[in-house]
Amino acid sequence: MTEQESSFSRTALLAQPEAPILAAARLTACARSRYAETLLAETGNDQVVVVGAGLDATALRLPTGRHRVWVVDRPGVLQWRARLFAQADLADTATSVAADLADGLRVGDLENAGVDLTRPVTVLWLGVSMYLAPDECRRFFGDVSALADGSALVFDYHLSRELRDDAGRDYACAVAAMAGASGEPWQCAASPDSVARWLTEHGWRVEADIDEADATDDGFFDRQQYLSPMRLVRLVHAVR
Ligand SMILES: C[S@@+](CC[C@H](N)C(=O)[O-])C[C@H]1O[C@@H](n2cnc3c(N)ncnc32)[C@H](O)[C@@H]1O
Repeated sequence: MTEQESSFSRTALLAQPEAPILAAARLTACARSRYAETLLAETGNDQVVVVGAGLDATALRLPTGRHRVWVVDRPGVLQWRARLFAQADLADTATSVAADLADGLRVGDLENAGVDLTRPVTVLWLGVSMYLAPDECRRFFGDVSALADGSALVFDYHLSRELRDDAGRDYACAVAAMAGASGEPWQCAASPDSVARWLTEHGWRVEADIDEADATDDGFFDRQQYLSPMRLVRLVHAVR
């Protein structure tokens, strides 16, 4: 999320909290974080690398002292993140690693920042794949395949157009227009079969690939006034 996008979202969310697209955007951000943090608690890996971190605050929510967290993003985004954390008086305990995924992610850069490559890592790659070209997504799976056995990858992706339902198509249409206008167009969408192929060609095994709605508690949507399930976002857990 860019600085401009973030301030737009804040203004829009506060002005119209019940607007369906904005409510769905909040669910998407919360559902992916919760999915990732549930898996983090289950895997037991103490090294966590958040790629395309933006303002991700996982490090602040994890049990104190049990994990070490690295955040990877473009240099300008990392500076913006540092500024906002300082303004909010939050101590950012994560270690920053600057990278542009369009050039690939070098695990050597992670090692230089203190990641122990001989031990498993959990990589969170949330809200990012859609901003990359399909080839860049495939290359990312290859880049992180250099991590130790026992590593885990948690990410989300968008279903290709023909696999979306009406709600997913409407949401994608509205949000993609906003993302494109702010210079960060959505580029990658795929079928579960393609994503499974991209992962397995780099030695990853898919443990789960589910609709975002399936990551919510039973009865969640029955209790919601402004939200309904949509088929667009998939959440994936892969291991090696
Ligand atoms: C929508 S935000 C997601 C932030 C956070 N991971 C979350 O789950 O809310 C997308 C993030 O991906 C980053 N990103 C997009 N393209 C990137 C690239 N080529 N290299 C590095 N980071 C990138 C953006 O800078 C931004 O921080």
